[in-house]
Amino acid sequence: ESRAQSELTAGNRVAFVDQYPTAARVTRLCFGVSFTALLIGAVLGIVQALHRTNVFRGVISSVDYYTVLTGHGVLLALFFTIFFLSGVFSWGVARSLDRDLLSRRFSLFWFGLQLVGATAVALAIFGGFVGEIPFEADVLYTFYAPLQAHPLFYAGLAAWLVGTWLAGADWIRLYVHWRRDNGGERIPLQTFMVLTTTLMWYIATIGVAVEVLVFLLPLSLGLIDSVDPLLTRTLFWYFGHPVVYFWLMPAYFAWYTILPKLAGGRLFSDPLARVVFVLFLILSTPVGFHHQYADPGIAEGFKFVAMTNTMFLLLPSFLTAFTAVASIEYGARQRGGKGYLRWMTALPWSNPAFAGCALAGLMFAAGGFSGIVNAGMNINSLIHNTLWVPGHFHLTVGTASALTMMAISYWLYPQVTGKRLQFYGLAQIQPYVWFIGMALMSNAMHRAGLAGVPRRTAEPQYQQFSFEAVFGSVPEMRLQIAAGALLLTIGALLFVTVMVGTWLAERGRGRLRVDSHLPEPISGVSDSPRVLDNMKLWVVVAVVLVAIAYGFPIYSMLADGAFNPAAPPVPV
Ligand code: HEM
Ligand code: CU
Repeated sequence: ESRAQSELTAGNRVAFVDQYPTAARVTRLCFGVSFTALLIGAVLGIVQALHRTNVFRGVISSVDYYTVLTGHGVLLALFFTIFFLSGVFSWGVARSLDRDLLSRRFSLFWFGLQLVGATAVALAIFGGFVGEIPFEADVLYTFYAPLQAHPLFYAGLAAWLVGTWLAGADWIRLYVHWRRDNGGERIPLQTFMVLTTTLMWYIATIGVAVEVLVFLLPLSLGLIDSVDPLLTRTLFWYFGHPVVYFWLMPAYFAWYTILPKLAGGRLFSDPLARVVFVLFLILSTPVGFHHQYADPGIAEGFKFVAMTNTMFLLLPSFLTAFTAVASIEYGARQRGGKGYLRWMTALPWSNPAFAGCALAGLMFAAGGFSGIVNAGMNINSLIHNTLWVPGHFHLTVGTASALTMMAISYWLYPQVTGKRLQFYGLAQIQPYVWFIGMALMSNAMHRAGLAGVPRRTAEPQYQQFSFEAVFGSVPEMRLQIAAGALLLTIGALLFVTVMVGTWLAERGRGRLRVDSHLPEPISGVSDSPRVLDNMKLWVVVAVVLVAIAYGFPIYSMLADGAFNPAAPPVPV
């Protein structure tokens, strides 16, 4: 057996699935939906990549392109990620509080509500595709006015949102229960991460809930006849930035609490991890205007405040990079690694759970740099609405989050099923296939964006390909996008094959067991100031910051009537 495999074999105690059956079941169900969304989303991804690069345009028409693009964005950015989060957090609270979710009925209820909502949304999107079904929802995953969808789309979104709120309530309820039995104890780290992320989600989703329930759903039902597009965009982006942390937090959760162990070591610092999650809770909402630098009707000053807050948000990401790399290096040295950089070769690169997380982290660093360009108010106008932007977020949500989620599943799915991972060889190559595919696609998208190629278009008629003008030409970038997209789709298929194979396997078949024990951090919870665990304080700080960032701009949008489509006059 290779080193990576024996690593997975060691130290197996009672399986999670037997210890906490409800949490295991909810996690399995959430993962099932999540991976299904990933599979469909990836197929749509290759269709649109080939279409818009002019490599293969036979599958869809250019009108249907926007249906496909909406499906791709919604299924991947909203459903793949957040169903995964719902599953991994259910596992994390049960594991770290050492008790099962309290009620099977309640947990299955919120899962069911999320699923019904998500299914309604998917139906509304693809109904338009089928033609005879009178649904239409080509509104993209950013769904603000003036684009309009069938009411089913908004109703489904609302149901799904309520499902996520109830999931949060389930985790908080378990924590409160634990607190009753553990008076003065510190919050276990994984639960700490779940709680801060959930509180952030409650604050952030208020914006999208108001957007959908007060404005877009009534508009699509014909109950009102106009909305203020600027207001709906603002409410969307109030939610639309923090949602990126909802994508990232499951990855951070894995990098802090699981990756160090996979590397053969321990987490470097518990206090740093807590500081990072508190910073995300308080800073991630008052930055939404950085998506609206180009919008008229919002005074420059408020955009500037958003930019400043955004740059502050780099801090928790740098802290994470430091902590993750320090923990990995510690692990490598425990395994006998030596030298300034040579220790990297001592890491378990053939363990797909480790390799996927590490490669995802590497790509996240690149995504962070292109994100700094997005965030700069002046330089943003260079890349605004170009292909640079999808280039950026396929590194962040499309790899840092997505590849980490896939990698962690290789370690976690066996624990919640009691089944051994199947097709280990496919799992081993999968992270590398994804990494190479994304390096090609994302790099070419960034370059194409700088050359002025727009995002969200089905019509790629720029230069045609010729062998004379190969390097640096738009057709060359398009070919790289198509080649990268092909590898990515293969990567997604490999992942789903491993998961479906494992799902269908009998318990006890195969070779791999999982060492589910997570060691204590080097600098442990006793080094963490107690104030970090004061959730009430951090929620108050977060709400005050939101009020400062959003109070005046929203007031001025409402002052001329909430449903008045005209933009308010802005003093320059
Ligand atoms: C957009 C391809 C995976 C999220 C796009 C676009 C392409 C693409 C070519 C740009 C379309 C345009 O602007 O006209 C792919 C391929 C994938 C993949 C081939 C892998 C099989 C992912 C993943 C995520 C994701 C894993 C997130 C978890 C998005 C989002 C958009 C997008 C949010 C923007 C949609 C919009 O502008 O409304 N994708 N992608 N993609 N992708 Fe992907
Ligand atoms: Cu943002």
